[in-house]
This record gives sequence, structure tokens and C-alpha cells, in this order.
Amino acid sequence: MRILIGSDHGGFDLKKAIKAHLEEQGHSIEDYGSRDKQSCDYNDVAKTLAEDIAKGKAPRGILICGTGIGMSIQANKVKGVRAAHVHDVYSAKATRLHNDSNILTMGGRVVGPEHAKVIVDTWLETEFSAEERHVRRVKKIEG
Ligand code: RB5
Repeated sequence: MRILIGSDHGGFDLKKAIKAHLEEQGHSIEDYGSRDKQSCDYNDVAKTLAEDIAKGKAPRGILICGTGIGMSIQANKVKGVRAAHVHDVYSAKATRLHNDSNILTMGGRVVGPEHAKVIVDTWLETEFSAEERHVRRVKKIEG
């Protein structure tokens, strides 16, 4: 799958680990930065990546900052983006089934790399539920 990935300085190390993990699996990864651990604004990476997801450049994106919260708030400003802030496997699965989330956000200061890899794998593998109630609710999000 083509996957867009981005971080700020707070998510840099976790992004590196997730990127290597996904590349090993054969996914095609496009990295939106940051390129190092120098302090930067998560907003810029989130906005650019989210706009590209909304345009259909790739089906899924992953954004990582210190907590995952700023990335999530910023990405969800873009119409067509459903960014889910997730730190557990149950939610990773549920947000795909129920919300058809197209961006996953996590905190590099919150979750360890091994746990994060399982969260990412679960999120990527789970398809949106075709159940009418979920389709209806996602349509309501999209207005
Ligand atoms: C940066 O210190 C931190 O504020 C950022 O990575 C993120 O956690 C914001 O939500």
C-alpha cells in the first residue's frame, strides 16, 4: 500500500521505526519530514500530509508528534480527512471498522515502538465495515 508518513521532532524516532517496519513489509512510504530532531511545528507536516490524503494521493497516512494530539487536531481540519488518535490495538481496529479513518496519529512520547508497530499493522489490515449504520455515520461526518 502507498502510505504517507510524517512527524515533528517529538515523533521523529518513532516515525523512523515505523517507516523501517513498513518498508520491510513492502509498503511504499512517502516521508513528509521532519528530517531530524530539531524543534519544528507539527502543524505544517500535518496540514500538507492531510491535504494530500484528501486529494487521494494515497489511501492512508500516519502522523506522529510527541503526543499525537496536535497532529490529530490539525489533520482533522482538512475536509475528507478522518484522523484517529490511537494508542491501543482495540481502537486501531475499531476506528477502521467504524470510522473508516484514513490517518492514524500517535505520540512518540506515549507509545513504545513495538506496541506502535502492532497498532499500525492492525490499522492497515482492517477494512471499513460495510454495515449500513457505519456508512451512515461516516457520511454524517463528511456533511
Ligand atoms: C512538541 O513539544 C509537542 O508539543 C508536539 O510534539 C505534540 O505533542 C503536540 O501535540
